Amino acid sequence: MNSFNRRDFLKFLGLSSTALVLNSCSSLSFLNSESSLSQLNSGLSLKSVLGEFKAIAASELDELVLDESFTYNIIRSWGDKILNSKSKNIDFGYNNDYIEFLPLNEKEALLFVNHESVNPLEVIGEKAQSKVVGVSIFKIKQNSSSEWVFDEDLTEQEKYNWTVDANRICKVSGPVQEEYAEMKGTLANCSGTKTLWGTVLTCEENYHNFKDLYLWQDFDMNQYGWIVEIDPYTKNSIPVKHTALGKMAHENAALALADNSQVVVYMGDDKANEHIYKFVSDKVFNENDKDYLSKGKLYVAKFDKSLDFTKAESGSGTWELLSLENSTLKKIFKSEAELLLETRKAAKLLKASPTDRPESITVSPKSKEVFIALTNNYDKGNDFGSIFKISESGQDHGSLSFNYENFALGGEETGFTCPDNIQFASDNSLWIATDISGKAINKNQYKFHGNNSLFVIPLEGEHSGKALRFASAPNGAELCGICFDEKSQTLFLSVQHPGEIGTNSSWPNLNNDKKARSSVVAIQKK
Ligand code: FEO
Ligand code: CA
Ligand code: CA
Ligand code: CA
Repeated sequence: MNSFNRRDFLKFLGLSSTALVLNSCSSLSFLNSESSLSQLNSGLSLKSVLGEFKAIAASELDELVLDESFTYNIIRSWGDKILNSKSKNIDFGYNNDYIEFLPLNEKEALLFVNHESVNPLEVIGEKAQSKVVGVSIFKIKQNSSSEWVFDEDLTEQEKYNWTVDANRICKVSGPVQEEYAEMKGTLANCSGTKTLWGTVLTCEENYHNFKDLYLWQDFDMNQYGWIVEIDPYTKNSIPVKHTALGKMAHENAALALADNSQVVVYMGDDKANEHIYKFVSDKVFNENDKDYLSKGKLYVAKFDKSLDFTKAESGSGTWELLSLENSTLKKIFKSEAELLLETRKAAKLLKASPTDRPESITVSPKSKEVFIALTNNYDKGNDFGSIFKISESGQDHGSLSFNYENFALGGEETGFTCPDNIQFASDNSLWIATDISGKAINKNQYKFHGNNSLFVIPLEGEHSGKALRFASAPNGAELCGICFDEKSQTLFLSVQHPGEIGTNSSWPNLNNDKKARSSVVAIQKK
């Protein structure tokens, strides 16, 4: 990686050439001579929303490593119960991912947690697997030390705790309703977002694994790959699959309002060479309505040129309408339902731009720019990924044109690689979690990075533009589900798949059982 990448990265952040020189000098010593693990920016102090921390160095320890002034407690791990009463038992699901914090009052809240996948060697058979995927919703409370903990009170568990698993029948909204009055349940739930009207959207991502890898029978592929809306506060409410938002490997959804208050949802399709989409609701937002996602327009991004995402390219683009209103699409698809069931095919017919695996999307609370984690694309020689950003024309999320910039390139020069979950904190700092696969981690080109980690990139102040490592994951795990509580005093985080194939882990070693288990943790300043 050459200094060109770093220079452009700094340029975006508005740093001067003096800062560039200083950073170039310091970067000469970012690799520890004794080990190949990166020490870039380690020891630098940052006042984050959670309090001041010193950036840590890359690590290969089988631990959740934090700056020594921070601590964590485990809220739930695979194998725990979320309901444990005489009448009903519910397990906390497998491979937890997205987390949403839903306050009930000052000291009590619900956590909404996605379960992305299951290890078929550990949970055997379709029936058992169907109960540990989907979503867990459960109550937490603050204890006397102001730590958020699982609420053990059985009456409270009965009142609030429930799951939306692969067996919970969902309603269907949008054009595909013509063909499916309901769908079977939800699975492959990756990330999501909270809506402005009190519900949560969860995204169905790698659903094909349930047929191809887990060998589920009678698996109808049409019923998955949707964005699902859940009212978490109403126990056993019926989820809705919103087909107007398209069918793909939905990673997450980022919500924004257009200048005229139409609801806009940005979405990525996490597969190499797939696309970036946005949905614009027909209705404008008002305090009394909750139905925005059943009717609207779906667009796909098209850039002005073919891009090499290993370079800091910039340019302009347009949002192309995926609808039978387009004559090219009208020749191919008989109905809007048919088009939506083949969203990827429709996008390609409109010459939508291929990208290097769009994972998480988030909108800056300050600039309104849309940030997208492009994780990597091995076929195109992109090992390190980048953070790509879209600035809508006139800063209006309803615009049909935009400028783009591939502004932060992963690699040794910036310290992070394979960005996956990204999230803005309330101070407009960008939090980036990395996800190198178990087969590749700590080897070859990834040796410098150590275990998957969580970085903070402040966008202003002394360390503006530097990726400061806040946490390092246990062996094989990725850190995901970045979620702050209302006061930004606690960071909830998923430690997902410790000991993933290719690695060995015994984290969190509950009761000294030496067993690796995905867990939700709450991180706080000591
Ligand atoms: Fe579920 Fe693309 O990570
Ligand atoms: Ca992801
Ligand atoms: Ca990933
Ligand atoms: Ca993963």
